[in-house]
Amino acid sequence: MKEESNMNLLFEPRSIAVVGASSKPGKIGFSVVRNLKQGGFKGKIYPINPQGGEILGEQVYNSVKDIPGEVDVASIIVPAKLAFEAVKECADKGVKHIQIITSGFSEVGEVELEHKIVDYAKSKGSRILGPNIFGVFSATSNFNSTFSATEIARGHVAILTQSGALGIAMIGKTAVNNIGLSAIVSIGNKADIDEADCLEYVVKSELTKVILMYVEGIKGGERFIEALGAATRVKPVVVLKSGRSKRGAAAAASHTGSLAGADEITDAILKQCGALRAESLQEAFNWCKFLSNAPEPKGNRGVIVTNGGGIGVMATDACEKYGVELYDDQAVLKDVFAPATPEFGSLKNPIDITGGANSAAYDLALSAPAVSDKMDATMALYCETATFDSENLAPMIRNTYKKHMDTGTPVVYAIVGGSAVENAIVTLSNENVPVFADPYDAISCMGALYRHHDFNKSRDDSVNESKIDLAAIEKVIDKALADGRTFLLANEGQDVMRAAGIMIPGAAIAKSIDDAVKCAEKIGYPVVMKVVSRDILHKSDAGGVALNIENKDEVVDAYEAIMRNCKAYKADAVIDGIEVCEMVKKGTEIIIGARKDPQMGPIVMAGMGGIYVEVMKDVAFRSAALNRGEALKMIAETRSYALLLGARGEDQKDIDVVIDSVIKASTIIRKVSRISDIEINPIVVYEKGKGVKAVDVRILITK
Ligand code: COA
Repeated sequence: MKEESNMNLLFEPRSIAVVGASSKPGKIGFSVVRNLKQGGFKGKIYPINPQGGEILGEQVYNSVKDIPGEVDVASIIVPAKLAFEAVKECADKGVKHIQIITSGFSEVGEVELEHKIVDYAKSKGSRILGPNIFGVFSATSNFNSTFSATEIARGHVAILTQSGALGIAMIGKTAVNNIGLSAIVSIGNKADIDEADCLEYVVKSELTKVILMYVEGIKGGERFIEALGAATRVKPVVVLKSGRSKRGAAAAASHTGSLAGADEITDAILKQCGALRAESLQEAFNWCKFLSNAPEPKGNRGVIVTNGGGIGVMATDACEKYGVELYDDQAVLKDVFAPATPEFGSLKNPIDITGGANSAAYDLALSAPAVSDKMDATMALYCETATFDSENLAPMIRNTYKKHMDTGTPVVYAIVGGSAVENAIVTLSNENVPVFADPYDAISCMGALYRHHDFNKSRDDSVNESKIDLAAIEKVIDKALADGRTFLLANEGQDVMRAAGIMIPGAAIAKSIDDAVKCAEKIGYPVVMKVVSRDILHKSDAGGVALNIENKDEVVDAYEAIMRNCKAYKADAVIDGIEVCEMVKKGTEIIIGARKDPQMGPIVMAGMGGIYVEVMKDVAFRSAALNRGEALKMIAETRSYALLLGARGEDQKDIDVVIDSVIKASTIIRKVSRISDIEINPIVVYEKGKGVKAVDVRILITK
């Protein structure tokens, strides 16, 4: 359980000690004091330097110990070898948050020093931000404890960044793009304070309308997911996640890991939390700027207005790509747009007011969706033409933008042409009018707006769990660990399925030929027989499997053959018996998996199963903290969902029981700390009402 954090004090402190403050311009210790002063911070600034004196008019203290009164935040800017002592003094003084700008810790292998610092600070109740950061800025408190060389433009976007260098670059870039910041914090090595903590502050910050996160690696997936989900409920969160590496996945032992790069899992979970994942810095900035100014759409009746057919088609494609719906009520469109459209134009969405349209025609056409209660969003396109009165382009856009804002109707513009058009883009962008040079950029913004609001309209954060017999599962694991194994045998896997209530084929373990015959007769022919041995993982390769056994004689023959084959395959293999199982009838083979992902925590997977899982890679992922609706969405994302719905005249399959099984696998992975991977493949799905059979179950365990 994380201790109660007062993140407010990190961003809005009453006092700050700058340990390593310097009077030498050009040094970080100087820049931080200068930025605090220039930013207009009203709290106390205590520069600390053994040489004493004054820095920018502030009295310098020799040590934190000498500061009279309480200190909320300290910024550490001394070399790494002095950092522990500096942190110790601050923690002893009772400083609440210690931000360590200094580099040279875990990022260069100095893990122990970093741990030592965090452990000491925690023991005194202090929190650590960083190390390896550029500092914190909050517009609310005029608190700029960064060493940024440029002034930070104030506005409504809060940035949480793992990369310091990129963060500093973003300060400059957001200023150029006229995107003001409400806050920016560099999280660095995340030795203690992480994204989840910082989200807590920016979600509550009234100035913040949009949150932008730059994330490389995620620690503590469950907390991250919870904090992110809570944040998107309140405001849009744009995420730039880098590190699409497949390395981690290659090392994973199960299909759930190897079927996807870590990135596919991240992608799915960001969506599950309602975050908006941007592909590039530019896209992220475009979204942030647009989302901090755009009104909430009242519905999904979008309309494209254009003076060129080609760009209209491009925009239509973009709407499909970004999920922006286009309105199709022909009678209404005709009614609304006919006055602005010549006879040879098009009144079908996209509305084409044709190349002859001048600014007055545009004004008329673009005012219509702003005031109509039948349309909810406008995508305005313009291609430069010889007949257009170009000096009126910017005023027309300004005017129609204002009308949209006045009526709370979101609008984006894409205008294409020469220098007059490019100049208009620069001028209008500086006024925060969403004008772009490409319809894809414009409509990508509109798509982000819809995704955020649509997600919140239909979101359901409840988590479904099923009843599982935890004690029975723990017992199976105890036994396997006592045997020195980190995996469960097939029959133990079936025991876990039984304890969770996932349907399995009838099966029993026979220790002798007579026993095998009795088992087969109890289960009912035809049966399958499989060797049970911890020394033989790939049973078929060892000749340890016999299928379609129809009668007593065949049971006897199969028993003898399996024993013979397995001894020949591995003479010293310990054979615990032969499993006699129900011969599973044909159905639709799917896979259900669950694992503890090193970054995202417990995750679940489902998709097309059978022997071609890795070839087809038709699977989808979610955080294991999910409900039945989300489980269905996950399954429905795969192409093979069509098979469950009943392809080629087949009946629909038992999707309800598939969902049950997903929830059960999720419950196991979340509740049983010692199970790291579950893979059920295939789990055969029958017609509606007839359930499933988990045929092959692999489970990995840890101590
Ligand atoms: N308490 C307070 N001040 C102390 C001190 C102590 N115990 N011991 C030394 N100082 C003073 C020094 O005298 C110096 O002041 P001066 O300029 O008046 O001489 C100041 O602290 C800084 O120490 P110095 O040895 O000059 O270090 P530096 O300024 O060259 O480098 C860092 C310090 C922290 C900037 C450097 O070690 C570092 O980590 N740089 C990378 C920072 C970075 O990029 N972070 C990530 C950003 S994303």
